[in-house]
Amino acid sequence: MDASLYATLQKTRDAARILAQSVPPADRRRMLHKDLSPLLWHLGHMLYIEQQWAGERLAGLAHDDTRAQLFRPDGLRKAERAARVPTFDVLARDWDDWQGRFPELLASAESARPDHPLLARDFLLRFLIQHHGQHLETMHQALVARALDRDTGTFRPAQTLRSAPLTFCYRAWTGGHGRIGDDRPDSYDNERPSHDVHLPAFAIAERPVSNAAYLRFMEDDGYRNNRYWTHEGRHWRDHAGAEAPWHWRRNCDERWYGVDIAGPIELISDAPVSGLCAYEARAFARYAHARLPHEAEWELAMRDGLLLEVGSAWEWCENRFYPYAGFRAFPYRGYSMPWFDGAHTTLRGASVYSADATRRASFRNFHVADKRHIFSGVRLCHLSRPTH
Ligand code: AVJ
Ligand code: FE
Repeated sequence: MDASLYATLQKTRDAARILAQSVPPADRRRMLHKDLSPLLWHLGHMLYIEQQWAGERLAGLAHDDTRAQLFRPDGLRKAERAARVPTFDVLARDWDDWQGRFPELLASAESARPDHPLLARDFLLRFLIQHHGQHLETMHQALVARALDRDTGTFRPAQTLRSAPLTFCYRAWTGGHGRIGDDRPDSYDNERPSHDVHLPAFAIAERPVSNAAYLRFMEDDGYRNNRYWTHEGRHWRDHAGAEAPWHWRRNCDERWYGVDIAGPIELISDAPVSGLCAYEARAFARYAHARLPHEAEWELAMRDGLLLEVGSAWEWCENRFYPYAGFRAFPYRGYSMPWFDGAHTTLRGASVYSADATRRASFRNFHVADKRHIFSGVRLCHLSRPTH
């Protein structure tokens, strides 16, 4: 067992526990957002995943059906979870027990079957760190939802966010062959196998769309102008009544501010905009006479060092989430397989709340197009292809 990977896993476990404990007990168990499980469910789910893989699969420990029902992603419906999750104290005690047994359990599995696919190259530790990191990010989404509910609309930002003209610096990728994906033990099944792609030339913006540029879209009546919106996008917009990014609020002086996990914050003009669903990202692109990048373009540009400011907000791509040719589900069908359903769009990059362990050029995130609580923004590609 690699000591530094193990230390990172411990940190991630602790962070999830501290985060759940940071809110009053009633808010730990409540759904803080209609799409998000209660904070305590995430805590129990992380423990369940560890027990399923390290406990049942590797060490042959008994299967606990009640636990599985509660904490499997396809067990209880999200809305039923609040009433059924154990208290923080019960979960914390279970975690303590488990964490105490874990090192010995893994060490003996490693000496018994070092070539097991879950153990070779520390796969399981790498998987758990990334899996927990993703849930930790989701828990931060829930904290923002909670802060939004509590916001009084009275924050006075020190600086007024002003709109700015759309000036994008596009970087050209010449066209030709490139390699995407990753076969290293850190990678998820949906990143494998790495493979060659052949792409026509394209030009991609060096920086993501900023708060100031997005405000210009809003001031230019971007939300109301149907020309920018697809049919589905209009439907979403009218239903949601959206007229600004998810976490933006305006005070009585008509000044915009943002809401973050601990409450109101300044919206920095040059910072990447976030809080956008895919429909908003596409509407903005159409307004800017541009398009969203295909995820393969994004990855090649990233690998060639063309992209700046990656990692503050997820970036919506043009394409649906799809399996690479030769895809094999690992370590379980449920991680990627069910989401190659044509209903999920790929996002690339990372957000401020993403774990370091998942920050890489090949990492693929995926969500349904109407989700905007996921710290997601947009980067543009030029509509016309560069000529060389
Ligand atoms: C890729 C972020 C959509 O949170 O549902 C966590 C990641 N998969 N546990 C999610 C995931 C299994 C997944 N997302
Ligand atoms: Fe999970």
